[in-house]
Amino acid sequence: MMDRSQISQQMRDHYETVWQGNDAWDLESSPFEQARYERQVQLLSGRHYQRVLEIGCGSGCFTRHLATLADKVLALDISPAAIDRARHQTAQVRPGVIELRAADIMHFDLQADGPWDLIVLSETIYCLGWLYSFFDITWLARQMFTATKTGGLLFLGNAYGGKNDWLLHPCLINTYRDLCSNVGFRLRSEEIFRGIKGEVEMQILMSLFEKGDEI
Ligand SMILES: C[S@@+](CC[C@H](N)C(=O)[O-])C[C@H]1O[C@@H](n2cnc3c(N)ncnc32)[C@H](O)[C@@H]1O
Repeated sequence: MMDRSQISQQMRDHYETVWQGNDAWDLESSPFEQARYERQVQLLSGRHYQRVLEIGCGSGCFTRHLATLADKVLALDISPAAIDRARHQTAQVRPGVIELRAADIMHFDLQADGPWDLIVLSETIYCLGWLYSFFDITWLARQMFTATKTGGLLFLGNAYGGKNDWLLHPCLINTYRDLCSNVGFRLRSEEIFRGIKGEVEMQILMSLFEKGDEI
């Protein structure tokens, strides 16, 4: 069995290879992904956030949008190559708003840099669930709750896969959503965002949670 530092190394190697191979998921170019980001912005708009944490920012496509809603965005990704791309993608954003860091969220102290008005996990939690244990994911979720300001928000967005797409199996995607409620967040709104990417029908479960009083 791998320990946590071996898991971290394997994930870093994997996602680094993915990002060195260019925009692997077409996040920068796909019209579906741009529509997804726009919907995510709509769901989060209506308030201005002081401090935002984006976990698994990839090449910064959504980070750019978050910068329009916030004073400060700390955007993390385990892959240094993703962070390099994100630096390029966010070059036009007003200096001082976005901080990009290469880090594994499972080895990051959420409270040291918090508290957060908004935490964003967009198409990321199932990557963590690939190798980290369910205990680790649950612990992260509880840490996110603790490090969020009272009244602050958590955005969770995840694609539903088919029955052979084991990282994105609907039973897992729904379990991650339920986990966020179980650690204390209150579900404020939820929807399934639909569209076509290439020739594939996509369904994204978008859940917005709020932190009420601690339980
Ligand atoms: C599918 S991409 C999603 C990118 C972006 N959030 C979006 O919505 O388009 C998932 C990202 O999570 C990153 N990631 C995977 N494991 C991570 C970890 N342990 N810590 C931080 N980032 C991680 C990957 O490198 C990848 O860039």
